[in-house]
This record gives sequence, C-alpha cells and structure tokens, in this order.
Amino acid sequence: MKYNVIILAAGKGSRMKSQLPKVLQPLAGKPLLHHVVKTAKTFSEHLYVVIGHGAEKVKERFASDDAIKWVIQEQQLGTGHAVQQVLPYLQDGETTLILYGDVPLIKPHTLEQLLGKVGEQAMALLTVELEQPQGYGRILRDNNKAIKAIVEEKDASVEQRLIREVNTGIIAIRSTLLKKILPQLQSNNAQGEYYLTDIISLAVTNGVSVDCVCTSDEIEVQGVNDKKQLAFLERAYQQRLAMQLMEQGVTLADPARIDIRGEITVGQDVFIDVNCIFEGQVRLGNNVTIGPNCVIGESGKTVQIANNVEIKANSIIEEAIIDDDCVIGPYARLRPGTRLAKHAKIGNFVETKKADIGEGSKVNHLTYIGDAVIGKDVNIGAGTITCNYDGVNKYQTIIKDNAFIGSNTSLVAPVTVGESATVGAGSTINRDIDKDDLAIARSKQKNIQGWQRPKKK
Ligand code: UD1
Ligand code: CA
Repeated sequence: MKYNVIILAAGKGSRMKSQLPKVLQPLAGKPLLHHVVKTAKTFSEHLYVVIGHGAEKVKERFASDDAIKWVIQEQQLGTGHAVQQVLPYLQDGETTLILYGDVPLIKPHTLEQLLGKVGEQAMALLTVELEQPQGYGRILRDNNKAIKAIVEEKDASVEQRLIREVNTGIIAIRSTLLKKILPQLQSNNAQGEYYLTDIISLAVTNGVSVDCVCTSDEIEVQGVNDKKQLAFLERAYQQRLAMQLMEQGVTLADPARIDIRGEITVGQDVFIDVNCIFEGQVRLGNNVTIGPNCVIGESGKTVQIANNVEIKANSIIEEAIIDDDCVIGPYARLRPGTRLAKHAKIGNFVETKKADIGEGSKVNHLTYIGDAVIGKDVNIGAGTITCNYDGVNKYQTIIKDNAFIGSNTSLVAPVTVGESATVGAGSTINRDIDKDDLAIARSKQKNIQGWQRPKKK
C-alpha cells in the first residue's frame, strides 16, 4: 500500500507569544516540525505540509528538504478545512495518514498499528485516555462500544465532558474515502470552523467503520501550544534519550542532567558527568569519559572521539576528530578542523582551530593553535600563540616532530619550526628554524645592581 502523509501546521500558535512560528519552536535543538517530518518519512517519500501563519519562515527553514510538498491554507478555517486544501493532490488507491506539526513525539510503531487497521471501508483513529481530558475532543461510542463521533470540548455537554477517552487528531484513511467524505463537512459549531473530527460521524453515516488504536503513552500524543508544554515535552524527550543511552551501557551521573540535541552513538563503558550538551553528530568510542559541563558538538557538525579519551570539565568541542588515549581540558575549546592523533593532550584554556596535532604532542596551558600542523611528541609551552592572521589573510604554522616551544612564544605565520628544534621562552618567531637549532628572539636581560625603588614621601 502506498501512503500519503499530511501534516497540519498552519495554525498561529499565539499562546507561544513568539515571532517564531509554532512549528519552528525547538525541541531538542530541532524545530517541532522536524521531528514529525522525520517520523513521517518512515512511511512515505511524499509529505504534504499545510502551512499558513509564518509560511515563508517555515518553508525557508526546510528549503533543502525535497520530500515536502507545501500546501498553503490562506485562512485558518479549521483542521478539516486544512486537510481539504490537500484533496486535489490525493490519489485513489492510497492511504492517507494525518499528523500534526505540533505533536512531535509520535512513534512510528504506533502509526504502523494505526495503518494496519485501515481498510476499503474502515478508517482508523488514534485515541488516548487522559486523567485530565480538558481541551481535547471526546470520543463518543455507541452501546456496542463502536466509535460514532467526536465532540469538541466547546460543543460538548456536561456529561460528554466527563469522557476521558480523547481524540489525538491522528487519523488514517483511504484517500478515496477522504475525498468522498471531507467535502461534506459543515461549520455549524461553537467555533464556526470546519472540524476534521466531524469526518468520524460522517464516516459512520457513509457506512464506513471507525476502528481505533488507543495508546497508553501520553507523551507521544502530547501537543505543544505554549512554552510550558514545550519545556515539559523537552524534559520528557530528554529523559527518553537518556534511558536509551543507559540501555546501551552508558553510565550517566544523572539522567536528568543531560541534553542531547543531535545524534549520539556510543561504544562501551562511556561515562558522562552532569550538565553535558551534545549537538550535531557525535560519535564516542569505548571508555570515553566526559566531565561535567561539557558542550560536545554543534548543529550540522561532527565530533568523532575514539577510545580511552578523557574530556575534563567545562570543555567545548565544536568539531573535531580525536584519536585514542587523548586527554582534553579542563576548559579547552576545540574548534572546527581540529584533529588530535593518539595520546595528544590539550590542557586548560587552550583553543585550537584547523589544527592537526600529532601523536603524543602536548599543548597544556593557555594557548591558541590555529591553522597549524604539529608533528609527534611536540611540547608547546604555556601561552604560545600562532599568529595566523594579518587582518586579511590566514597563514600556516608548521611545527615538526619533537620540537620544543618555550612558554609565551608568538609564532608569526607562515613559519616552520624544524624537527627537534627548540624555541626559547618569550620569543617572537617570524623566520623558519632548521632541524635541531635553538631560536631565541627576546631582548637581552639587563640587571642593575643596588636599584632603589622610588619611596613615598
Ligand atoms: C484538535 C482536535 C481535537 C483534538 C486535539 C488534539 C479538531 C477540530 N480538534 O483540537 O479533537 O483533541 O486536536 O490535540 O480537529 N491547523 C491548521 N489549520 C487550521 C486549524 C488548525 O493547519 O485551520 C493545525 C494547527 O496548526 C495544529 C493542528 O491543526 O497543528 C490542530 O489545530 P488546533 O487548533 O491546535 O486544534 P485543537 O483545538 O488542539
Ligand atoms: Ca492543538
């Protein structure tokens, strides 16, 4: 069976009190709509997303996604009216699944069950039982427990409001039936809208049976209307991700204090201390230890960390490839283009960018290494700076194997320090240094004997 997915996302989301359209509000670092689109793609290569409020911003954010066909709903006349905008595109012989841009955590498995109930003369509805059904459409059943209608809260009687089985809004139905029933909707209700929910009673009068899947997971059908619900779902989702990590064997100092805003893959015996944020694509090998308050990765970037690596507290790794047995931090910042070979050490208050650091080399304190290639077993003293930028152009620094750079050295690029060469502390180096040579470039020290300091009168 071929599937169509329709995602409704035209609503204003006024309760967010934000310039950003509701479906672009971030959950785990990605727009709400992103989560729904990702799930929808497991069923169909073609998605119809109905947009209206903030349509341009929404389209722009997903500009690179060719699977989405945008359908504009000029006026928001209700959920039924929103789906009506897609009718011209629907083809007979397919099944249509209707999802919501603001219900981000719906699980593919649940949708599979729902789709399994659809037939030529049977549609399927996802419901949930809630302790607090307020605000939702209630499910009305006949004496044989068959679903006969949905009544919106604003249209419901006092008795109907006591019903705890509610409409999630998620529906699956043959496209042919949808095309037949949807034009029959009317707007004679409390909100004067075309309710999608009315297709249930219309289906029944058209001789179509309504089957249902009742999920017990409130989180997956939870909609997001305001910042409080957004924060609630964020925590629930993060908790889910933390559980998944622990199921894979990761030790988390506190599963309530980790934030994953991208994809993370892990080896064995990984330990993650509190308050770490993971973003973009992060790959961790075996025996990786991450100290508290680290930010690992950036949206759209990759961080690859091999085995037995220790990242100490308060380190930030934006984009880097790190080989086995490296030690990083505390307070290190590894910017894009950083590569550390085995056993490299990057210490506190060290910043690297486009830096290739060889096996066993150490950059332990207070240093900037940018646009540089550093060989094996190099020791970079505290306070060393690669001066890579003249205000217009960037230049490279090359430091060969076994070189020793004294503290507080400025290396004015382009410059090469030869193999096993030594630089005296406090030097400003702007000429190449040959293999095994010592370079010192600092003013000579003068000592004045018996110097009298000025005295206060
Ligand atoms: C809807 C259901 C309700 C259900 C609840 C579950 C209807 C009439 N009611 O109510 O039974 O319990 O969802 O969360 O369907 N939208 C459009 N165009 C419109 C109106 C809405 O695209 O003209 C989109 C919104 O952006 C949103 C979704 O449809 O993503 C749901 O609309 P919303 O107004 O939030 O419906 P509810 O009142 O929550
Ligand atoms: Ca809603």
